[in-house]
Amino acid sequence: MLPTIDWTGETVVMIDQRKLPASEVYVTCRTAQDVAKAIKTMVIRGAPAIGVAAAMGLALGMRRSKASGTKQFATEFQKLCELMAATRPTAVNLFWAIDRMKQAFAEEAQRGASVAEISDRLMRESHAIHDEDVQSCRTMGAHGATLVPDTARILTHCNAGALATAGYGTALGVIRAAAEQGKRVAVLADETRPFLQGARLTAWELVKDGIDTTVITDNMAGTMMRLGDVDLVVVGADRIAANGDVANKIGTYSVAVLAREHGIPFYVAAPWSTIDLATRDGDAIPIEERTPREVTHVGNTQLAPEGARVRNPSFDVTPHKYITAIITERGVYRAPFSESLANAGPRN
Ligand code: MRU
Repeated sequence: MLPTIDWTGETVVMIDQRKLPASEVYVTCRTAQDVAKAIKTMVIRGAPAIGVAAAMGLALGMRRSKASGTKQFATEFQKLCELMAATRPTAVNLFWAIDRMKQAFAEEAQRGASVAEISDRLMRESHAIHDEDVQSCRTMGAHGATLVPDTARILTHCNAGALATAGYGTALGVIRAAAEQGKRVAVLADETRPFLQGARLTAWELVKDGIDTTVITDNMAGTMMRLGDVDLVVVGADRIAANGDVANKIGTYSVAVLAREHGIPFYVAAPWSTIDLATRDGDAIPIEERTPREVTHVGNTQLAPEGARVRNPSFDVTPHKYITAIITERGVYRAPFSESLANAGPRN
């Protein structure tokens, strides 16, 4: 399994996803501030992975605390929660993980635990969030693999793999599970401008796994579908609203519309921590706008002239009407999503 993020005991270590696949280097975070910076600058990215990183960052920060009493400890914890929450706005897994850490803190404080005991609990909670994420991906993969026929040619967008989670992946988890069942699958990976998660990260993971992988530029997806070279699409998600609208990497919406036009099933795979029943629909999902430099440059090479205005929304919303099914660790959900998701029980 790929080492997306891990504890060494006193530090949190992450593979630097900005550098892949050219170099496999690791970033060591010694403080909560280091972790927050790593999330913001995309050392680590992908909705579930961001949540795991935030939880570990909080545990790390509180372990470093010099607070003498629980009151001061609680004030410091609140500040670090705010720091983590300000890193990236779209993936709800970040806020889900912070809430879960707050809940763990509150439970310990309520029973009169000491600073050391609360700190230990936060550490354990962050480990649990990590381990549960891997388990969710595996279970989701097993559910999703039932939807993948033998010899399927599968298009995916962005990276919803081991690198985007604590391990195994969501969309790539479905593909991995199908391959592990002996199904002969082939993947078309959209390169995913501007950050190139598809070309750099998805292709890297799949090639390492020995899964047949073809990289295409994003504007080739329609032609591949028209040529009959795509049997299904599976993507991840950053936030799924109560009505089933899905925020995911910019370009997902175009793929979904193309899939509908060509009668190709469009699946979304995500853990339950990505489902945000408190957000009514996709219009209410905050969409991150990232630096223009991601669009004007590739590495240090400038593509667009100075003076041109640039837009760089990092995510888009795919209306639920384009989604064939949402695959989670709890099972496969179909329209009407406002009913099927609501009836699946409360958020963990
Ligand atoms: O900007 P990123 O790389 O964090 O965006 C990632 C995506 O959009 C993924 O598809 C999504 O987080 C699902 S990851 C399992």
